[in-house]
Amino acid sequence: MDTQLEHFLAHSGRRYQYLEETDSSQNQIRRLAQQGAAEGTIVVAETQTAGRGRLGRPWQSAPQASLTFSLLLRPGFAQANLPLISFAAAVALRETTEVGGLKWPNDLLAPNRKKLAGILVEAAFQPEGVLAVLGIGLNVKKPVPENAAALEDYTSLSRAEVLERFLERFDQQYQSLYQGGGEVLAAWRQYSYTLGQAVKVKTPQGQLEGVAVSLGADGSLLVESGSETKVVSVGEVSLIGML
Ligand code: BTN
Repeated sequence: MDTQLEHFLAHSGRRYQYLEETDSSQNQIRRLAQQGAAEGTIVVAETQTAGRGRLGRPWQSAPQASLTFSLLLRPGFAQANLPLISFAAAVALRETTEVGGLKWPNDLLAPNRKKLAGILVEAAFQPEGVLAVLGIGLNVKKPVPENAAALEDYTSLSRAEVLERFLERFDQQYQSLYQGGGEVLAAWRQYSYTLGQAVKVKTPQGQLEGVAVSLGADGSLLVESGSETKVVSVGEVSLIGML
């Protein structure tokens, strides 16, 4: 147990679970949601036996070194803004760490373009409203997987400090989605490592290359490829010449 993290959670005013091990904090939040847990409930896990990332990939976290958590959300804003929850989280992570930049859709990269954190949002439509589970995996201390970076190389923030700052900043960004997505998207653009770059994008429809020119109102990536502008809603971006 990390006593600083436990102390922060105990005084956060939120319902929380701090687990040594679970299958996935995403699953644990869903189980709590089924029992009626409120928005803001958080599960922090040291070890996940079945952690998952975007696009069906597995996600590894290291006990005491990563910061691995999921947050329960019951968004009441327009459903069109649901895809922007992960952008709000990416902006909040960048503001928390004050390091690096954002790769579309929502990875926090270190200045050397290696991955510091990943974000996964899973939503379910239920009779009583939308349930969204925001999951974050942040590499705080070394060792980290290949192609990943450790936050400790850039800042001295502890895991508890990162979590506290993130929750404050995410709350501001998330609340702004009740007024539309403009604030979140403007902040994301400001922190982007993607816009204006030559990119290769793997999408479910195939691969494309071009220049990432802007974001759509729903967070989709607009890529200029030859004489066309393609709209990418789901995909994996590589920054050409940087990775
Ligand atoms: C990605 O970059 O692919 C997203 C990674 C998200 C991982 C986090 S760790 C906490 C939460 N629990 C999971 O099983 N996944 C998310």
